[in-house]
Amino acid sequence: MAVLVLGGAGYIGSHAVDRLIAKGYDVAVVDNLVTGHRAAVNPKARFYQGDVRDQDFLNRVFDQEDIEGVIHFAAFSVVPESMEKPLKYFDNNTAGMVSLLEVMNQHNVKKIVFSSTAATYGEPKQIPIKETDPQIPTNPYGESKLMMEKIMHWADLAYGIKFIALRYFNVAGAKPDGSIGEDHHPETHLVPIILQVAAGERDELSIFGDDYPTKDGTNVRDYVHVVDLADAHILALEYLKAGHDSDAFNLGSSTGFSNKEMLEAARKVTGKPIPAKMAPRRAGDPSTLIAASDKARKVLNWKPQFDNVEDIIATAWNWKQTHPEGYNDRQATK
Ligand code: UFG
Repeated sequence: MAVLVLGGAGYIGSHAVDRLIAKGYDVAVVDNLVTGHRAAVNPKARFYQGDVRDQDFLNRVFDQEDIEGVIHFAAFSVVPESMEKPLKYFDNNTAGMVSLLEVMNQHNVKKIVFSSTAATYGEPKQIPIKETDPQIPTNPYGESKLMMEKIMHWADLAYGIKFIALRYFNVAGAKPDGSIGEDHHPETHLVPIILQVAAGERDELSIFGDDYPTKDGTNVRDYVHVVDLADAHILALEYLKAGHDSDAFNLGSSTGFSNKEMLEAARKVTGKPIPAKMAPRRAGDPSTLIAASDKARKVLNWKPQFDNVEDIIATAWNWKQTHPEGYNDRQATK
């Protein structure tokens, strides 16, 4: 039987596909290649190009494949864009989930692992953030994902579709052999932007705000390696296959690093000066986000292999150096 990975050509999805294949799973991938890259998909996976909102297309995939469970990564995830284009997020992310659950139900597929986010919590009430804390998103991206969690809850009650929502904190890094990695256009995330400066593609890093109530005034985030994140999805799928109930888990390292600390770590890893300047705050940035991730460690038996940010940055730097232009496929697929 196959595991169906939606969004399997994206940054996190492609690493999950790669780990599934490495662990001997039979894998089918769906991706519309709007932000994903065909070259990121492990060639041992069967690939279907199409959109999660297209039920005729999804029905054909579910007819063709014998699917034991679904891992769903297909979503837009840029917070500032979601503030400007909220309907794009509710359409693709939230309506996409409705479409997928309908097709799953029609085909009697009853297990789904899904990418949720720390953005569902909004401005945290306490640090570290626990799974039971209030979820009050401060942007449409987080709202679209919270709605997806709620839709899954009701689909579980009505149809018995069991789900695991994995609430990611800040993901970074690349497969250590440098064969797949992060390639967004435009890039908005801290680690790849720092490495673009290190590689000479940008003149300097702008650090958004140094007047936050943190150790050095810059935002603090909790970084987790993309391969560790990918592995958590496989553990979550196995957890559902073992007959457990629907649940939600934070995925983070439980350690916070400030933006300035990340810059220093990258200077050390790359040996480059990486010029930086202070810039105004970016709208919607919470001051500090750190996960309580003991639930995933205890219940799913998740054991992240990367426990320091320098090692995480080193894998991203390896990818950057071997793929200075990413997958270099913008003409081919866009
Ligand atoms: N930052 C800079 N300069 C840059 C880019 C980022 O200073 O050029 C700062 C941001 O202001 C923030 C930190 O680096 O303080 C991390 O920013 P990212 O954009 O890398 O990540 P976010 O924490 O904003 O967002 C991540 C995911 C989202 C998810 C969110 C959860 O990318 O999808 O965590 O809150 F919603």
